[in-house]
Amino acid sequence: MAGTCIIGLQWGDEAKGKLVDLLAKEHDVVVRYQGGANAGHTVVVGDEKYKLSLIPSGILTPGVKSVVTGGVVLNPKTILEEIDGLTSRAVAVEERLLISDRTHVIFPWHMAEDAVMDANPAGGESIGTTQRGIGPCYQDKVGRSYAIRLGDLYRDDFRQRIESIADVKTRTLAGMNGRTDPITFDGAAIHQEYQAYAARLKPLVCDTTAYLLDAVEDDKRILFEGAQGALLDIDHGTFPFVTSSNSSGVGVSGGSGIPGRWITKVLGVAKAYSTRVGGGPFPTELDNEIGQHIRDLGNEYGTVTNRPRRCGWFDALAVRYTARLSGVDALAVMLLDVLSELPQINICTAYEIDGKRVTNFPSHVDDLRKAVPVLETLPGWQQDITGVRRMKDLPTGARAYLDRLSELVGRPIEIVSVGPDREQTILEGGESLFAPRTKHFVRGANNDYPPMSESSASTSPELDAVPRERWPRHIAVIMDGNGRWAERQGLPRIEGHRRGVTSVRAVTEECSRLNIEQLTLYCLSSENWKRPALELEFLMHLLEQYMIEERSTIMDNNIRVAVIGRRDDIPEGVLREMDKTIELSAANTGTRLCLAINYGGRAELVDAVQRIATAVQSGQLNVEKIDEQLISNYMYTAGMRDPDLLIRTAGEMRISNFLLWQISYAEIWVTDRCWPEFREPELHQAIVEYAGRDRRFGGLSGPA
Ligand code: GDP
Ligand code: IMO
Ligand code: MG
Repeated sequence: MAGTCIIGLQWGDEAKGKLVDLLAKEHDVVVRYQGGANAGHTVVVGDEKYKLSLIPSGILTPGVKSVVTGGVVLNPKTILEEIDGLTSRAVAVEERLLISDRTHVIFPWHMAEDAVMDANPAGGESIGTTQRGIGPCYQDKVGRSYAIRLGDLYRDDFRQRIESIADVKTRTLAGMNGRTDPITFDGAAIHQEYQAYAARLKPLVCDTTAYLLDAVEDDKRILFEGAQGALLDIDHGTFPFVTSSNSSGVGVSGGSGIPGRWITKVLGVAKAYSTRVGGGPFPTELDNEIGQHIRDLGNEYGTVTNRPRRCGWFDALAVRYTARLSGVDALAVMLLDVLSELPQINICTAYEIDGKRVTNFPSHVDDLRKAVPVLETLPGWQQDITGVRRMKDLPTGARAYLDRLSELVGRPIEIVSVGPDREQTILEGGESLFAPRTKHFVRGANNDYPPMSESSASTSPELDAVPRERWPRHIAVIMDGNGRWAERQGLPRIEGHRRGVTSVRAVTEECSRLNIEQLTLYCLSSENWKRPALELEFLMHLLEQYMIEERSTIMDNNIRVAVIGRRDDIPEGVLREMDKTIELSAANTGTRLCLAINYGGRAELVDAVQRIATAVQSGQLNVEKIDEQLISNYMYTAGMRDPDLLIRTAGEMRISNFLLWQISYAEIWVTDRCWPEFREPELHQAIVEYAGRDRRFGGLSGPA
């Protein structure tokens, strides 16, 4: 299991939605765990623009489950509108979405209370809420007596409960706003309305805590989508100008029900500047033409309320605080392109409060109100960066700006966004961008390790009759026909690969039993890398599993494992397991099992020529010294003897795509059997027929 979190580090709208959409395909499940329809995420995919609020931004990715957990407050009407909007644009929402029966439901009185409270703030300045009933619904959740959860809508006493709460709410609201025209909530009508919503939502409603705990145990990859930003966190933000949930990293576990120990990576998202919607202090605010310039270029208008967002310089003091608070590993800096035209850019590095320099984020809003930002000025880059896709291609000024942000916040930057589209992103972290998982998991496939049949190691009288000196010492096999075998059985191709693993084990064990010196298995040629992504992913999954699952068998049989071929395209996690097995078995003295992965005659030659040329160039190698022996030391098979017998399955009479150097002098034996059905009897037959070939032994058995 691996869990990656996307947490906003400012006051919301950091472009979390874009990032979640971008990373969704690397995950199995996307989880929204707090907030409600106060959130607004805009996701741009080519010409399409999607506005999401309650539904996780993973919804646009096929094969990924999106889960709304119990930490969320849910307005059923809003989510149904969102579902309808997406469905009308051919997004298969109903296949991809799950909603927790523990979510607290927003009712009309919550919206009314929100409006009344926000218009009559106790402390003078209004919070400027989104008026979506978020605060009052969370209030009822904590207060318990008037709370209704989604699961309650399906209970027999729903009508009775709603009618009694509607009465109470009518009276309290009249007391709150002191108006002469009090709003009356009609319990029966509301019941009817919500019953209809409940009926429509029913197929999506479940116990998501149980679902997610299972997902954890099934080793799935989970992406947690934060809403709002850490400075709006109810406990750790700029209280009272905050939202009513834990929107910083501290809220992930509580809201989702997944223990914090499963969270393996936290990505903190920040804009290259700051924005804020609604009330509350904002030390770096630019209430001037620069602020307006940023607003215009960044299109800084609220997704939910369309209010102009307040804009200001990047506040490194605040983001350093929220990055620490949220346990951030690395940063994603978004909307960098918005600053491209500015001749100079400021960063806030500290505050001055009552004449004193402060570097810790103040806990009281009154202190924050007094904070005067200490600014550091950097030159702008004044060139378009929206087409840049690699960090090193950014203008020097932009890189210097990012380096400084990273230094001040104290976290590396792994992602930079230079435009709203998915494509307009610089991804620097490679594999480490996503939380590492213990085992590679392929969506939509049977991920179990294939069951192994008992070895059918039969003694073979023909083989026993062959004198030992005529046996091959090194057998190589081109494992072909997995896909063909599967197609013949009416199974998906990947099932053929799964089954192929059982042959790998059978043949390896038999070679070990027969004391064959070396067995080379040509498993995955570089041609395999052109296969569909799912097939390739599954092959990598099998390879990793093989390395883990077979370790004990390998050790029991005293087998020494080697892997040859190019390592470049093999995922990091798979390489790790591979190297572990190689290292562990290094001292074994029995059969050497050599797995050829990402091999191909030409690639091997190219690699060898490059390495030889480099050695000549650096003066380490004299051209005169290049001979057959020396070249062999530069091939993948350096130090290994050539195979004597090359077995090719699936009947193909061509030799393609393997390690040319290695098989140059091998005897070839071809069988029509596909690899998944190649077992001990076929192996025995190949050895027997090999032994019968006189040319191989230079007429050894005949007269001179
Ligand atoms: P969220 O609430 O954190 O998901 O963010 P919003 O979607 O509310 O606001 C971010 C806005 O910035 C959206 O309109 C995005 O389409 C847009 N956006 C995202 N990344 C970039 C970027 O790198 N450059 C520009 N110019 N716009 C971006
Ligand atoms: P996303 O997920 C920006 C702000 C409101 C208000 C305060 C409280 O798009 O980043 P609430 O309605 O939650 O009681 O309002 O919080 N706010 C947001 N600001 N982005 C958001 O979400 C926000 N959600 C709430 O403007 O100041
Ligand atoms: Mg937003």
